[in-house]
Formats: sequence, C-alpha cells, structure tokens
Amino acid sequence: MRHLLDIKSLTRKQIETILERAREHKTSKIYPKTLAGKFVLTAFFEPSTRTKVSFQKAAMNLGAQVIDFVPETSSLQKGETDLDTILTLNTMDFDCLVIRIRRNGAPAEFARYVNTAVINAGDGTNEHPTQALLDAMTMVEHFGTLQIKVAIVGDVIHSRVARSLTELLKKFDAEVRMVGPKGFVPESFEGVSLITNDLKEAIFDVDVVYALRIQKERLEESYPNIDDFFRKMQINSETIKLAPKHAVLMHPGPFNRNIEVSDDIVYSERSKILEQVRNGVFIRMAVLEYALGVIELEAVQSVETSVAGR
Ligand code: NCD
Repeated sequence: MRHLLDIKSLTRKQIETILERAREHKTSKIYPKTLAGKFVLTAFFEPSTRTKVSFQKAAMNLGAQVIDFVPETSSLQKGETDLDTILTLNTMDFDCLVIRIRRNGAPAEFARYVNTAVINAGDGTNEHPTQALLDAMTMVEHFGTLQIKVAIVGDVIHSRVARSLTELLKKFDAEVRMVGPKGFVPESFEGVSLITNDLKEAIFDVDVVYALRIQKERLEESYPNIDDFFRKMQINSETIKLAPKHAVLMHPGPFNRNIEVSDDIVYSERSKILEQVRNGVFIRMAVLEYALGVIELEAVQSVETSVAGR
C-alpha cells in the first residue's frame, strides 16, 4: 500500500513506469483484473466530472469495486469534520481512498491517520498529481518526448494543475513558461524560465499552449468584470497564430467557453482536450495499481512480469 500525494515525491523513473503502464492499458484489448477483490472509495469534497468518473472507471476496469462518498448528503452537513469523516470511512476496510478537497495538504494529513492508500485527486491550490501524469502521457504520445516547451496560460497562481505539471516537466528538463494577467502569475517559480503578462512573448516558439480556467472559487477578493479581464488573454483562432503551427492546445477542463478559450478552437484539430480526458482513465488505472502494490515503481521488470502473467 502506497500513497500518491504529489508529483514532487516521485522520481523521473517512477513517472516513466506509470506512463509506460498506462500506455500498456491503453493498447491492451482486455484489461487485467489486477484489482479484483479490492475496494476503492472516492471522496470528492470539491466538484469534479472527469477526475472522479475516470478514477471510478479505472478501478472498475481492473476489477475493483467502487463506492462513492457524497459529501452533500453526508454527516458533514451535521457538522462532522472532514478528518472525522475520513477516520470513520477508514474503519470500513477500503483498500484505497481517492480524495479531492479544498484544503491544501489535507490528503497528506489524512494519509498519516489511515491504514489504506491515499491518492490525492486535487487539494486546493497545492497539487493534482494524476492530472500532471495524464498531461505528460498526452504530450509524450504527440511529441515522443517531454523535452518540449510548454506555456501555461491564465490563472496560474491559483492552479494546482499548473503546480503539478510544472513539477513534472521540470524533472524531464522541459522548458516551462507561465503567462497570465497581472496578479494571476507567481512572481517567481523555481525552474520556470519565463513568467510574463505578454502572451506573444510566452508562446511564440512553444510546443504546447496549456490554457487554464479562472479559479473563481479560490479568489480572495472580488474582481469586477473578471471574465473580460481574462478574455484579453483568450486562446482563440487569432491568438493561437502567435504560436508555431505545430503547437497543440491543452486544457485540464472544465473550460469556460469564450473566456479562456474560444468556441471555435476547443475541439479543433490541434486541441488535445478530449485526448487528455481519455488518457486520464489509463493513468488512473496505473496509479491505482501502484497504490495497491500491483506494480513496483522502481522495478520495470515487475511491470513486465505482471503483464505477462495476466
Ligand atoms: C482541474 C481541477 O479540478 O483542478 N480540473 C480537473 O481535474 N481536470 C482544473 C479546474 O478545475 O480548473
């Protein structure tokens, strides 16, 4: 049993092993039932569509049984704390808890108290490790390498996706840039080559334009006309021309049409948005196998063995 709490703690080799295993799942016709008899609990204290459903589908593809804990109809509404909720659920013999929560660091805190594997499915503005892994898988599929240039565009400062993706890309010597309106990009970020408010400067020679949603739910003050503010940095059929022709568009979703990305480009040929979602299932299959000890991250050998033995 192992936790997956952040990208920072994974080595390059471990990431490669997860990507390789996800790739095997994507290309195999029949999924191995490596998680038969296991119980996975999804506990999403913040809204989710693709992350939650893809974790559930991933677990079921591998033969696990899944229960979804629904905060809105739970005893949280009677004043129970999130930690007491997790401690209660922990007594019921789950093999893995998949947790999304608003509080930075909460999955790591819970992991200290429970006796099951904890997977962080996004904590506040901190990390979203499986998103970074599925993004990396999508980039490798397209470019064959992660030694690429990526510009992360929009509300970078509030984005756990940007943080995890940057940490991952840094491990592979990719060039990462951050661009957004004033106040929405960090002043500095270790290993990031350029932080700017100028879209053209950031994307003129990149391989990936990675757009982000405004994290309105995390803004501390209210900004009048914030949508208009972000439209100035919108990725649309005109502004994408500032990037090279070969550059692809990525976005973790959900996107707000005609705010950070325009209607005519979200599902265009150069958009990888739906492929990211599709890859999310395979990445989460590999991550669940890692958390439940089916694959050893240090030994690619055991991945081969478990594939051969299915
Ligand atoms: C992101 C998240 O929840 O962090 N979505 C996702 O998991 N695909 C991004 C967002 O909400 O903007």
